[in-house]
Amino acid sequence: MSDARVVIDLDLPGPTISRHLYGHFAEHLGRCIYGGFYVGEDSDIPNQGGIRLDVVEALRELRIPNLRWPGGCFADEYHWRDGIGPRDERPRMVNSHWGDVVEDNAFGTHEFMALCEMLGADAYVNGNVGSGSPREMSEWIEYLTREDDSPMAALRRANGRDEPWRVPFFGIGNEAWGCGGNMRAEAYADLARQFSTYVRDHADNRVTRIAAGANVDDYAWTDELMRALGDLSEQAAPFQAISLHYYTMTGPWDAKGSATSFTNDEWYLALSRAYRIEELLTRHATVMDRHDPDRRVGLVLDEWGTWWDVEPGTNPGFLYQQNTLRDALVASVHFDAFHRHADRLVMANIAQTVNVLQAMLLTDPDTGALVRTPTFHVFAMNAGHQDADSLAAHVIGAEERSVDGRDLPLVHASASRRGDTALVSLSNLDADEARTIVLDLRGAELEGWNGTVLTAGDTAAHNTPDAPEAVAPAPLEGVRRGARGLEVDLPAHAFATIELALA
Ligand code: AHR
Repeated sequence: MSDARVVIDLDLPGPTISRHLYGHFAEHLGRCIYGGFYVGEDSDIPNQGGIRLDVVEALRELRIPNLRWPGGCFADEYHWRDGIGPRDERPRMVNSHWGDVVEDNAFGTHEFMALCEMLGADAYVNGNVGSGSPREMSEWIEYLTREDDSPMAALRRANGRDEPWRVPFFGIGNEAWGCGGNMRAEAYADLARQFSTYVRDHADNRVTRIAAGANVDDYAWTDELMRALGDLSEQAAPFQAISLHYYTMTGPWDAKGSATSFTNDEWYLALSRAYRIEELLTRHATVMDRHDPDRRVGLVLDEWGTWWDVEPGTNPGFLYQQNTLRDALVASVHFDAFHRHADRLVMANIAQTVNVLQAMLLTDPDTGALVRTPTFHVFAMNAGHQDADSLAAHVIGAEERSVDGRDLPLVHASASRRGDTALVSLSNLDADEARTIVLDLRGAELEGWNGTVLTAGDTAAHNTPDAPEAVAPAPLEGVRRGARGLEVDLPAHAFATIELALA
């Protein structure tokens, strides 16, 4: 096996990697909000206004840039007025998508915006098109962002919040082709124009309106939405971005496979499915380019991540799954693709932040103990890419493995630069073999480096309250100058970042 080479031109910066590519998603689903973010003011778990302080502290470590809420499918059943005012007077509802449980609306607009303020994150509020009205959406943005004594601003003040909040992102429904109303593309495209009209910019708040986009490879849906925008040189776009959803799955809905028990073949199949994001971003962007060559309209991957069978014994509607090194590498493969598509991809939100699907954090329902997952560590190790200039990283000579009719390169890489430092991300997807990767760095002098690696003895290694650091970052020792460049010894099934100090 010859060494793979990664050629990086350090003096040729590409588009900025928006920090919003490291965004998050919190739905009223299972134990994401209740038990995850929010435990109520009377909980023994340290909290502020009911919001868990340990969760906030952990997410601040990631420099969490934004948080999408309240769904997901839940968004198109949610009526925001049910979630304001005294908690004991808030109406209840049935959360029909997720476990058919009764939602008491204890966590609503004020709680969400307080959470965003504690996190230092931008709010991405997802409105209701499926069962809502333009008026309801219009009044929500007025309530959130209006300064003067308008009816909704006055109502907000009566509920204890004087200052308006800033809401830079607003979703115009969710998965309109499915749980958001089972619409055809043409019908939704018209509704997206209509509803967006009423999501006004109040005072100095400027909203990016995000239309509910395609599932996976439904390029016709993207095409229809772009067509609905009309001639962008002639008018302001009614919505400024369109979304895309892509989950990494290796089986049918009724047999998605275990999060923690899998064969080597299933390891490679998952990583091959994750790598498909490269093709999906390329092809959706190509459709968008046809209508919008100047790239005014953003692509927002506001749901991505792994979707496995729920942990045995947990509620099937709560989507609670463990998170292994495999999930970590699924994330690193996605981020490499995100960095390469930073010219069109303006935001991405992993599903979901706490206790649901590919989570950053898991909380124990009995003890409340908090665990950082392997995926958390990928977000942390990659945080230096946020708002840095992308650098092309050409991987040459990587071994490939044929998986399910597709070639999966076993080495992945991406890079960015900020002033006199560059950050290189490297993944070795080989389940069994360590390898040396040569960084061929051009266009700047290298003064020093600092490597960090995330790996473990077993591809299925994961963190639990009893072993919270079974998968945790460690210094990467095997980095040295060689005749061919900077040589990096990467263990099998490993993710690494190397920070370069440049002269
Ligand atoms: O993230 C879980 C669900 O997946 C979301 O509610 C929905 O939008 C998608 O189908």
